[in-house]
Amino acid sequence: MRRRGGHGTGTRRVRPAPALVLLLLLAGCSGGSQSTLHASGAGARRTEGLWWLFFWISVAVFAEVMTLLGWALWRRRRATARVRGGDALGMVSVLGVAIPFVILAVVYGIGLHDLNALASPPGKNAAVNIEVVGHRWWWEVHYPDQPAAVTANEIHIPIGESVRVRLRTADVQHSFWVPNLMPKTDLIAGKVNETWLYTDEAGNYRGQCAEYCGQQHAFMAFLVVAEPRAQFDAWVTAQAQPTTPTLTAAQQRGKAVFEQGSCASCHTVRGTSADGTVGPDLTTIGSRWSIGAGAAPNDAGHLGGWIANSQTIKPGNAMPPQPVAAQDLPDLVAYLQSLK
Ligand code: CUA
Repeated sequence: MRRRGGHGTGTRRVRPAPALVLLLLLAGCSGGSQSTLHASGAGARRTEGLWWLFFWISVAVFAEVMTLLGWALWRRRRATARVRGGDALGMVSVLGVAIPFVILAVVYGIGLHDLNALASPPGKNAAVNIEVVGHRWWWEVHYPDQPAAVTANEIHIPIGESVRVRLRTADVQHSFWVPNLMPKTDLIAGKVNETWLYTDEAGNYRGQCAEYCGQQHAFMAFLVVAEPRAQFDAWVTAQAQPTTPTLTAAQQRGKAVFEQGSCASCHTVRGTSADGTVGPDLTTIGSRWSIGAGAAPNDAGHLGGWIANSQTIKPGNAMPPQPVAAQDLPDLVAYLQSLK
């Protein structure tokens, strides 16, 4: 009996057409919310330009080599043709040494120039400062100009202005990467690294940790929200305020569960007695784009599941399962969703 899908005779293997494979490969690099080839920021635009330059140089060199190879094979068939020693030496000197040297020197020079240009933001002085601390596996974000404003996994920036980002890590090495805005910068233990962001285009840009940092490295994502200056100012001022929502009866009960249970020992909600600093500041958790740094959507179902046992959503993360009584969980979720 022949196994299904085996290699025996009579089994037809479906091969994808080469054009289809190429299309799939190109689709992988051409779009989406996280692509270096869809640059929206001044830094990413520079690396995108560099990428295309290298790409077309490679295409030209490849075409040249293939043409010469074809020509050599064609000449060889005509058995009598022989290249004289002097001709061969000249050819190798020009095509194998001189031309590659010029190409590599030019590429190296342009690379150095762009590296230097990426060191400082347009206009040199940054109008906004942001501090980012990498944790396994989430991002803590501070706005030193409004010291009370602390968020997690979400960074707001004004458009048309340079933003300086200071990076440090609380544990292992991470890498801060917003493909559409800026190339990667590593977060190294015991060191403060700096990068910058600049974009003229309002929008949401997804960022990702780009240095393997353990089990949940893939779920160490964040969102950069670029918006007009007035909107940014309003947002950052609101973030700095203690939370004062008008709570329903259910949300009041949820708040009591939060403050009296184990939540408050690890999380801060400004304006309440919860002042833990182990996990993310939850003062505005209700308005965030995700929970668990991109691990799940921020809705009631996932939030409830996360509190009960976040290990089923993001195994290995620092938050243990919480013994919240079943009747209290909806109230707790309702309270957290009210924090905006
Ligand atoms: Cu942090 Cu990978």
